[in-house]
Amino acid sequence: MTAFVAGATGLTGRSVVEALIERGEAAVAHVRPDSGRLAEWTARFEGLGATVDTSPWTAEGMVEAMGRIRPTQVFALLGTTAKRGDGDYRTVDFGLTALLIDAVQAAGLDDTRVVYLSSLGADKPRGAYLKARTDAEAHLRASGLPWTIARPSFIVGDRDERRPGESVGAAVADAPLKLIGLLGGRRVADRYRSISGPELARGLVRAALDPAAEGAVLDSADLR
Ligand SMILES: NC(=O)c1ccc[n+]([C@@H]2O[C@H](COP(=O)([O-])OP(=O)(O)OC[C@H]3O[C@@H](n4cnc5c(N)ncnc54)[C@H](OP(=O)(O)O)[C@@H]3O)[C@@H](O)[C@H]2O)c1
Repeated sequence: MTAFVAGATGLTGRSVVEALIERGEAAVAHVRPDSGRLAEWTARFEGLGATVDTSPWTAEGMVEAMGRIRPTQVFALLGTTAKRGDGDYRTVDFGLTALLIDAVQAAGLDDTRVVYLSSLGADKPRGAYLKARTDAEAHLRASGLPWTIARPSFIVGDRDERRPGESVGAAVADAPLKLIGLLGGRRVADRYRSISGPELARGLVRAALDPAAEGAVLDSADLR
């Protein structure tokens, strides 16, 4: 397995790189060439035994990278937040994910499995955040490439920036779900309660290697 991880610097992305290395797989961690933390991320990922790729987020740049690296799996784990201010859900979450999918196709990697990290609620999109994911899922399905789609609920863990909305949302959701789980609603609880970045990452890597997960839409209960 040679895995290309787009969004490798994110909470889920960095955990996926670690989970791949732990399993003895070859991991290529993508870091934006203009990232202010390029040296730090390069040292961190190379220290883990991963390779770092800094191809530009352009169609030419990603087609060249896919043709050069020829990954067997591509993890699409990108996403912006309203607070970031460098692009919206349409241009980043949909636009860059679609660009990556098109690059895999254009490089002729017909057997490369694309693992796309979508979100719970993408089947009934309300608002730009979920709509971007619904459209990225549709773009992936239409690509003809092998795929696995993950729709987790809240992703929690050790982040560089504080996200009070997510932390409070997760805590508020988790409390009643815990009770539901204790009262026998284990599957429902596992589907809706938050999941940590590392646990989600291990589930994504497991699914990426599982032939049965090809063409599957997985929720947090499937990924724990
Ligand atoms: N957080 C949740 O509770 C939750 C729940 C369900 C689904 N999701 C979805 O899961 C995905 C990953 O979530 P996460 O929390 O692991 O992500 P995260 O920590 O916010 O990391 C996001 C990644 O996307 C990259 N990125 C953001 N804006 C970019 C841009 N304009 N150009 C290029 N790269 C850009 C970041 O790169 P830099 O480090 O270079 O900025 C980083 O690698 C996201 O799509 C998210 O929407 C999240």
